[in-house]
Amino acid sequence: MERDQKKKFYITTPIYYPSDKLHIGHTYCTVATDAMARYKRLQGCDVLFLTGTDEHGQKIEDKAKEAGVTPQEFVDSIVTGPRGVLDLWKLMNISNDRFIRTTDDYHVAAIQKIFKKMYEKGDIYKGKYVGKYCKPCESFWTESQLVEGKCPDCGREVQDAEEEAYFFRLSKYADKVQDLLENTDFLQPRSRVNEMVNNFIKPGLEDLCVSRTSFSWGIPVDFDPGHVVYVWVDALFNYTTALGLYNDKYDDYDHYWPADYHFVGKEIVRFHSIIWPAMLMSMEMPLPKHVFGHGWLLLDGGKMSKSKGNVVDPYILAEKFGVDALRFFLMRTFPFGSDGNFSNELLIQTINVDLANDLGNLVSRTTAMVQKYFGGTLPEGCKTWANPEPFDTELITLASGLRDRYEQNMDACAPHKALDEVFKVIQRANKYIDECMPWALAKDMETNGGRLAHVLYNLLEATRICGILLTPFIPASCEKLFAQIGAAPEVQTWDSAAVWGSRSETAAVTKGANLFPRIDMDKALEELEAARAAAAAPAQPAIELEPWEEEVDFDTFAKSDFRVVKVKACEPVKKSKKLLKFTLDDGTGTDRQILSGIALYYKPEDLVGKTLVAIVNLPPRKMMGLESCGMLLSAVHKENGEEKLNLIMLSDSIPAGAKLC
Ligand code: MSP
Repeated sequence: MERDQKKKFYITTPIYYPSDKLHIGHTYCTVATDAMARYKRLQGCDVLFLTGTDEHGQKIEDKAKEAGVTPQEFVDSIVTGPRGVLDLWKLMNISNDRFIRTTDDYHVAAIQKIFKKMYEKGDIYKGKYVGKYCKPCESFWTESQLVEGKCPDCGREVQDAEEEAYFFRLSKYADKVQDLLENTDFLQPRSRVNEMVNNFIKPGLEDLCVSRTSFSWGIPVDFDPGHVVYVWVDALFNYTTALGLYNDKYDDYDHYWPADYHFVGKEIVRFHSIIWPAMLMSMEMPLPKHVFGHGWLLLDGGKMSKSKGNVVDPYILAEKFGVDALRFFLMRTFPFGSDGNFSNELLIQTINVDLANDLGNLVSRTTAMVQKYFGGTLPEGCKTWANPEPFDTELITLASGLRDRYEQNMDACAPHKALDEVFKVIQRANKYIDECMPWALAKDMETNGGRLAHVLYNLLEATRICGILLTPFIPASCEKLFAQIGAAPEVQTWDSAAVWGSRSETAAVTKGANLFPRIDMDKALEELEAARAAAAAPAQPAIELEPWEEEVDFDTFAKSDFRVVKVKACEPVKKSKKLLKFTLDDGTGTDRQILSGIALYYKPEDLVGKTLVAIVNLPPRKMMGLESCGMLLSAVHKENGEEKLNLIMLSDSIPAGAKLC
């Protein structure tokens, strides 16, 4: 079918701040969006799934400075570097169709045009910003919005801020936004509407500061140098620049906009449900159909954050338990609109109960029996049975109606409920095995072989339907499942999920490896703790040492006279970048002058008074016209390719002139 004939579905995740490595909370939202995108593709929709990174702002600028690299180098390392954002999404089997970085040229140029357009319209104007700023959240707050003087989003300290800035006339759109929230299903779940209206709109929406001058890592306001665009304006419009709005990089804005869903975490619902629609109204652009504010994954009841040191690393979990097990756990366990408490125990328990026990057992028992009793191929005619037992009908009815119940829940953004419906069928099928007792039927194949084949066909069909509907959540495992139960591609489709009996009666079944092996809880917990500790240990720098010298005989060595010296004065040597001139007390009563090429490593004033080691019986040398009588001892090596030097310093209690031997 041509793209234009299919129903389009455009879904986004928030674009991530690459200020730190992503954790399991970020993974949660992206996996949920991925499951939704895959579900819509399964239904035959023309899906565009966008994710990306939000790379500007003061926090990134500060972190880059701390790391001694440029902001671009800093974000590059987290986005494209090893075990970075792109690697994580690849590992997690995320099927995004597009990835935007807000430092991409096309986005930068488009944002400048958008900002100018709102300015020319009069919706952005120049004023003075006086208020409070929360650096970690990159958010401005008025005094009245603070909670106990702290940032209402993250509870951290805020700073006074005053500067000339541009403002967006948010207040102008307050009534329209309130109407949107209260009278449409734009914002979901519904419980988030009251929070937005009561906490933010009713107290009075103030105009929003949308430019900064106190740092430079942002998109410059092209008609007023010195100002950079507020990171949230830059970030929110990603959803449209990534389609080609005001740029030539892409060309499907008209096709995909407005978005069907923005999935976002609850703390950024305010930006997406108030500021975003107001800016779109200003730009006279269509509004997204829905914003869904999901809950947080909590650890010990609190939000995970790098600064609290309690982030859970998705790499460790996916590598240990498998990508699908982790994806499944995230979607199955936590109701999508609410907060949930993450724990390793819960993860292992979910894998063991749902995946290993219920699903894994159903597949392995069924395929093993088809193999054992029928050599892997059921006989023709096994689809029907003249006198069905009540439990045949029960299983068939439950599985036949599953797709519709699943669809209702997926469309209501309740993936946990959709999965619950699937597992009701899986559990029913396992119970059906116990009720039918295939091993008893197999004792007399002549009499009961037909009935046994029918029972096994029913089990394969129930498994196939569940497999189709599990595909958005555990795609790689479902491929294996289909191969094992002999479900050809044409019976892996959305349509066929509603048609009981689609599977060919005689398709070959192959018992394969266990899809989800059981996990030993205690052992796994111990290993996880060890992996966490290893990952938390600071990375060892790559050290390069100087080559070892040739052996010398003892007498030659013993001739070197090493003495303790005290720095009386130290100053740079004029016209030299490297040399420092030391005036030293060497215990003889006469000052000793030594020149040392260490100006790149030490400030002269920091060395006065220090107790050092010098070799004092070298012949005097002239450097830059000055005499140097000896050499100060240092330890030198290379660290990550960079030369490091440390003067040998001794305790000040050792007197000048003491000999080292
Ligand atoms: N850059 C902004 C989004 C701009 S969208 C135009 C941002 N980035 S973020 O990296 O800080 O967060 C990205 C998403 O991860 C947010 O939706 C946030 O709610 C989500 N999560 C971060 N920690 C989380 C949990 N512990 N649990 C669930 N989601 C969490 O905000």
